[in-house]
Amino acid sequence: MGRLDGKVLLVIGGGADGPPREGETLAIGNGRATSIICAREGAAVMVADLKLALAEETAAAIVKEGGRAKAVACDVSREEDCRAAVETTVQNFGALHLLVNNVGIGIGGNLVKTSTDQFDRMLSVNLRSHFLTMRYALPEMAKAGGGAIVNVSSLAAQRSNSMISYEATKAALLGLSRSAAMTAARDNVRVNTILPGLINSTMVRRAIGDREAAVAPRIPMRRQGTPWEIGKAIAFLLSDDASYITGTELIVDGGLSAR
Ligand SMILES: NC(=O)c1ccc[n+]([C@@H]2O[C@H](COP(=O)([O-])OP(=O)(O)OC[C@H]3O[C@@H](n4cnc5c(N)ncnc54)[C@H](O)[C@@H]3O)[C@@H](O)[C@H]2O)c1
Repeated sequence: MGRLDGKVLLVIGGGADGPPREGETLAIGNGRATSIICAREGAAVMVADLKLALAEETAAAIVKEGGRAKAVACDVSREEDCRAAVETTVQNFGALHLLVNNVGIGIGGNLVKTSTDQFDRMLSVNLRSHFLTMRYALPEMAKAGGGAIVNVSSLAAQRSNSMISYEATKAALLGLSRSAAMTAARDNVRVNTILPGLINSTMVRRAIGDREAAVAPRIPMRRQGTPWEIGKAIAFLLSDDASYITGTELIVDGGLSAR
């Protein structure tokens, strides 16, 4: 018995856009690991991604293990795509119970090095997108009798490293999720946010390479987290094990923020 048996999950940003770790054949990021772990827990998974081929890779990995998954193209900066991803999920699997908003990009720099266009793009991809997918998903979840949403923020919501639009959008996600949780509670839908710390994911490997040895000493647990550890925390928040948890945040950072 899986903890997500009978549930239908939509993962937005469920591909993995970056190189695999040494020794791995399939590149693993937070979105892909979450999709695979939730499928192992019994969910039927619709994997949505800007790059359809990456979503298809995730879906194929799930099907190869005996799970249920399909892929759909979706650019979250387009409202029509957000609506269509929800609609396609319901058309394919008959309902929607669970949503993970994993998309998050980092462009621009500090206050003086970020252009207005870059800032607007970040708002559109990292924040407005989550508003849209939740707004389209909630009525379907209500119809299905309830469900759960997890938005992927970052420790950058609480700590600054001078990437202003990343930090601003990740912090804004906390308020967005809390507010959505208040509305969704009456439909038996829980909304929570996860704050990953330093994770050896596709996003990080794409940006700085596999720098485990350089990064690890900064972290109390002396290693980066893995995308699988993010996926497991998200699966918990989606499952009935978290049945009284809503409107809150879970930090998964090996102790970094406690330091
Ligand atoms: N790795 C870390 O250390 C770390 C730390 C904190 C937070 N996070 C958060 O984790 C999430 C991403 O992690 P990942 O490892 O899955 O990274 P990733 O970069 O592989 O992203 C996952 C997928 O998002 C897709 N995507 C990008 N733009 C999109 C768009 N406009 N529409 C739809 N899909 C789009 C990519 O194609 C990719 O396949 C982000 O929200 C990021 O901020 C990561």
